Amino acid sequence: MEWPREKRYERLENLPEEEYNKLKEKVKNSPYRQKFHIQPNTGLLNDPNGFSYFNGKYHIFYQWFPLGPVHGVKYWYHLSSTDLVTFTDEGIAMKPDTVYDSHGVFSGTGLTSKDKLFLFYTGNTRDENWIRNPYQCIAVMDKEGKITKNDKPFINKVPDGYTDNFRDPKVFIKNGKYYCLVGAETDDNKGAIVYYSSNDLKEWEFRGNLKTDFSENSGFMWECPDYFEFEDKAVLMFSPQGMEAVGEKYNNIFQSGYLIGEKIDFEKGEFKHQEFKEFDRGFEFYAPQTMEDNKGRRILIGWFGLPGTDSVTDKYDWAHCLTIPRVLELKNNILYQKPLPELVKLRKSEEEFSFKLNNNSVNLKNEKRTYELDVNFENIKAEKVGMKFRVGNNEETVFFYDLKNNELVFDRTHSGELTENFEGGDIRKCKFKEKNLKLHLFLDESSAEIFVNDGLEVFSSRLYNKMKNNEISFFTDGEIEIKGKLWEI
Ligand code: FRU
Repeated sequence: MEWPREKRYERLENLPEEEYNKLKEKVKNSPYRQKFHIQPNTGLLNDPNGFSYFNGKYHIFYQWFPLGPVHGVKYWYHLSSTDLVTFTDEGIAMKPDTVYDSHGVFSGTGLTSKDKLFLFYTGNTRDENWIRNPYQCIAVMDKEGKITKNDKPFINKVPDGYTDNFRDPKVFIKNGKYYCLVGAETDDNKGAIVYYSSNDLKEWEFRGNLKTDFSENSGFMWECPDYFEFEDKAVLMFSPQGMEAVGEKYNNIFQSGYLIGEKIDFEKGEFKHQEFKEFDRGFEFYAPQTMEDNKGRRILIGWFGLPGTDSVTDKYDWAHCLTIPRVLELKNNILYQKPLPELVKLRKSEEEFSFKLNNNSVNLKNEKRTYELDVNFENIKAEKVGMKFRVGNNEETVFFYDLKNNELVFDRTHSGELTENFEGGDIRKCKFKEKNLKLHLFLDESSAEIFVNDGLEVFSSRLYNKMKNNEISFFTDGEIEIKGKLWEI
C-alpha cells in the first residue's frame, strides 16, 4: 500500500484522540474481524514478540504500527493470558521513544527470570541520510507489568562483514550461559545467524556465524531466529528472505522454516542438520516464535501474514493477525505441530457425522461460520479425496489429497476477495504419502488453519469471503469412509 514516509513515521501519541477514536470505530465496523485470533485494534500487526510465561501468565507482544495498514514506525503491543485461549489487552508495551529505537521497536524475545521478564529487541534507527543503525536492546518488565528500558543497548554495532539487516535477538540460557542469536545478512548478501554469549546479560562476547550446511538457495537475510532442544535433538528456526520457489516448495514471497539436527555445540558454533523445511504449506505465515511453558511444552505462534504483501482489509485501516498457538513435538526427526489442546474451550455445540462415499460428494448443509472440524478419511480406495468449505454463490475453498501425484492441494482461487498480486498464486501443494488422511480445521471469520495427520503438515490461509457461504462438502472419485465432528466456535 502506498503511504508517504512522513505518515509512516507519525506517532500515535501526536494524533488527536478524536481522530484516533474515529480510526478505532472504522476498524471495529470492518468486515472480516476475527473472533478467536489476536488482531490489532487499528493499523498493522506483524511478528509475535516476547512470547513467554511469567508470573503465572502467558505474555505475548506483537509488532504494531497503529495508524494504518502499512509497515510504519513499530511499537510492541502486549496481551496476557492464563490459557492462551482468551487474552487480556495490556495495551502498548514499548514505544519508539529513545535515541536507540527512534525508528521502531523491532522484534525480539522474552526471557523469564525469578521476578523479572527480560525483553530483548532491536532498536531500529535512521540518521538524517536515512542510513540505518540497528541496536540490540534490553527492557525489563516487573511483576506489576511495568516495563523499563535499559539506558544503553547491549550490542551497539553491527559486526564487520554484515549489513544493516541485523536484528531480532533471541536470548536463551544453556549450561548456565546466556546466548543471543541475531538474524543477519552478510556483506555478500547471504542470510546468516550470528551469536553472542554472556555470563551476566551485561557483557556480551561476539562469537561469529552459526555454521550450517544450508547455503544453496538460502536467501539473503534470515529474520527472527529461534532455537530450542528436544532431548538429544535441536531445532534452529528462522525466516529466510530471498529463496527461489522450487516446485511446490517456497512459493510465498518469503519463507519461514527450520533445520532439525544435533544439539548445537556453542563452543564451536557448528550445526549438523537435515534439510530446511517450511513450517506452513499455506499462504500467509511468517516470523514465528516459540516458548517453553510451565508445563514443559514448546509452543509456537506465528504472524498470520507476510512482509511485502497487501491485505484485503487494508481498505478498512487494519491488517493481519497472529495464528492460533501450536504445540511442537519431535518424533523420529519429524516436527509435528498440533493445535493447542486448551482451544477446546472455544467449542460450543457439537455435531457428529459419518458417510460412505462412492464416486460422489456429500454436503453437510452447514451454516456455522466459525468452527473447529475434525475429520478422518478412512479405507481410501480412490485417486482423489477431499473437502470444500465456505461454499456458496460461486465461492469455494478446496483442500484435497491427490493420491496419484502424492500431493496435498489447497486451492483458494474461488475463496472470495483475494489479495491483489499475491505472489505464487492462490494454490499451494506439498508432497504427501500417507495411507489415511486426517484433517483438523479451525475456521475463523477470515482464516483457515488446517492441521493434517496430527500436525505432520499445516496449511494456513486468510480467507475473505461473503457472510453466507458456509457450506461444507466432502468428495472422492473412488470409495472412502468419512467420520468427523464439528464444533461451533
Ligand atoms: C519480520 C521483521 C523483523 C523485524 C520486524 C519489524 O517480519 O522484518 O525482522 O524486526 O519485522 O517490524
